[in-house]
Amino acid sequence: MDKLTTLGEFIVERQSDFPFAKGELSRLLSAIRLAAKVVNREVNKAGLVDDILGSAGQENIQGETQQKLDVYANVQMINALRAQHEVCGIGSEENDDFIAFDKGESMWGKYIVMMDPLDGSSNIDVNVSIGTIFSIYRRKTKPGTVAQLEDFLQPGLDLVAAGYIIYGSSTMLVFSTGHGVNGFTLDTSIGVFCLSHPNMRIPEDGKIYSINEGNYKQFPEGVKRYIKYCQEEDEATQRPYTSRYIGSLVADVHRNMIKGGIYIYPATGINPNGKLRLMYENIPLAFIVEQAGGVASDGKNRILEITPEELHQRTPLFIGSKNMVEQAEAYMAEH
Ligand code: AHG
Ligand code: MN
Ligand code: MN
Ligand code: MN
Repeated sequence: MDKLTTLGEFIVERQSDFPFAKGELSRLLSAIRLAAKVVNREVNKAGLVDDILGSAGQENIQGETQQKLDVYANVQMINALRAQHEVCGIGSEENDDFIAFDKGESMWGKYIVMMDPLDGSSNIDVNVSIGTIFSIYRRKTKPGTVAQLEDFLQPGLDLVAAGYIIYGSSTMLVFSTGHGVNGFTLDTSIGVFCLSHPNMRIPEDGKIYSINEGNYKQFPEGVKRYIKYCQEEDEATQRPYTSRYIGSLVADVHRNMIKGGIYIYPATGINPNGKLRLMYENIPLAFIVEQAGGVASDGKNRILEITPEELHQRTPLFIGSKNMVEQAEAYMAEH
């Protein structure tokens, strides 16, 4: 058998990818890795113990009913990151405002983490893949002071690292520090993430399109035309394409990363900026997909070039295989 590389070994071997960080980023990734295992353990118990499933009985700032696992994953991630002292602040889909550590060693942390602790909440109770999304930035304010809003409102171009965890038929952690994308699968028998998908590349073309077609009537004309294009018959381009929509962004993007495809969450009549959150969902996934050779935009502008103006900002998302996204953008530009 080939030698297995664990995530821990990989991080040590790749220290030279982030020379400025001197082990800080490694410790930070270790915290996320640990939280991922803890969340994974709970996700896998869902259904066995009745205090994990269902609603937590309150709404988050997004206007969504929080599920118990949304809250659980949020707390686990925050605690793991707080314990490492590398992070001075955290922005989360589940918190109204950013968290800025205002005492102790954490104030000296040089990094900020933005996260969607549990992605795909509507799939928790029905045993369908869910995920966690995170991104890491260097703080702008001086270490030793309390982090400010400007530390959190950074464009994707300033990202240091980003990744996602998918709790699927197996659990994977996929991340990039700006030197390509690598995927690690959790071997639950030993509790270790092992390198299973080195140097992931998203195919330039694909045959899968993912969009919530129930909202069709509310889509912009360009998206309607692109969907019709996907459905037309054409031997040369192997159309019609296949439609796949899980409803967990992480799982839809992960599948398209491997098989090739496009995911679209456009503006709709009800959500004129789309539904997905720029900082917690769109930027980190755009970073990873670009690092794998794909493209991500809001239909017009590159996601990584958008400067966020508020914490919970939403934008449309067109993400996936290069040629597919560019074609969808062309339909958007034309209509
Ligand atoms: P979250 O569970 O973090 O709130 O995210 C839900 C998102 C995303 O995962 C998914 O792709 C999308 O919402 C589904 O939205 P629709 O039900 O409107 O299709
Ligand atoms: Mn949510
Ligand atoms: Mn989400
Ligand atoms: Mn979420």
